[in-house]
Amino acid sequence: DWTAANIADALVEQVREQIGDGRAICGLSGGVDSAVAAALVQRAIGDRLTCVFVDHGLMREGERQQVEKDFVAATGARLITVDASETFLRELAGVTDPETKRKIIGREFIRSFEGAVSEVLGEGADKGETVKFLVQGTLYPDVVESGGGSGTANIKSHHNVGGLPEDLEFELVEPLRLLFKDEVRAVGRQLGLPEEIVGRQPFPGPGLGIRIIGEVTRDRLEILRRADSIAREELTSAGLDGQIWQCPVVLLADVRSVGVQGDGRTYGHPIVLRPVSSEDAMTADWTRLPYETLERISTRITNEVAEVNRVVLDVTSKPPGTIEWE
Ligand code: XMP
Repeated sequence: DWTAANIADALVEQVREQIGDGRAICGLSGGVDSAVAAALVQRAIGDRLTCVFVDHGLMREGERQQVEKDFVAATGARLITVDASETFLRELAGVTDPETKRKIIGREFIRSFEGAVSEVLGEGADKGETVKFLVQGTLYPDVVESGGGSGTANIKSHHNVGGLPEDLEFELVEPLRLLFKDEVRAVGRQLGLPEEIVGRQPFPGPGLGIRIIGEVTRDRLEILRRADSIAREELTSAGLDGQIWQCPVVLLADVRSVGVQGDGRTYGHPIVLRPVSSEDAMTADWTRLPYETLERISTRITNEVAEVNRVVLDVTSKPPGTIEWE
């Protein structure tokens, strides 16, 4: 029967069978899913697993440091960081279509993992040695919404499912493929991961790249990063993290509106707040945040981020809206 302990044991066993005496790398994103997948695989194959964190330049404030510190402290896993922001931004230049962005990001993740293989093997490696397996924290809803379930439409290509390149050389290891997020959290707790990791709100692998509506550029990322960090700070200090599933902060980079700030006219960009409540991300409702919190977030963002002169609230459920805007 379903207990976190039973599931964790069964999954560890399954992974051990699949990988045998091979080597694996696991892409860590800073999110819950990849952390739990990594912890499971580490339990199964020990130090034949190397975790790889790809810094694609689309992370939020402080995220990279968090992965490098929290995850390693919690698991003792071997971690390599790949600095790939130049490449990701170059490949994303000029791209505005959401599915194209997702496919580019999915592909570049894989290219980064491939590029990390020699470092993973280290200098003492034998000639024929290789890394055959790639561990991903894919969940059941990722599979379904990428069109992988039977009879389902492709709503969006999750970077680690529908966004994978066709010439993928790794064999995938996806121990969480049949689980929902709350089950993944239970398994993570069972494996001894700390609450700062398992309790974290979901954040998509493609990061801020799918929260900039329009072309992704370094400047726009910086604007969004500052607005997002203010929103997160205020939600946390108002004690609201437990009530929301996640709160994407979105930059409408191609939209401008007229404002007045200080004693001058501005022509800036809107920021959208998208707080949602959900059980499993398959459906969601917009969260009725207290007006005082909304006001604080709006005032701070428009005061502290010069390029933004308007903050708007998304009051759409899923369906018809998805949680992320792209
Ligand atoms: P949507 O926007 O489809 O999002 O309602 C449902 C949940 O999935 C997350 N999401 C992703 N997670 N890679 C991920 O790891 C992706 O490509 C991706 N796209 C969406 C989203 O944040 C929400 O929790």
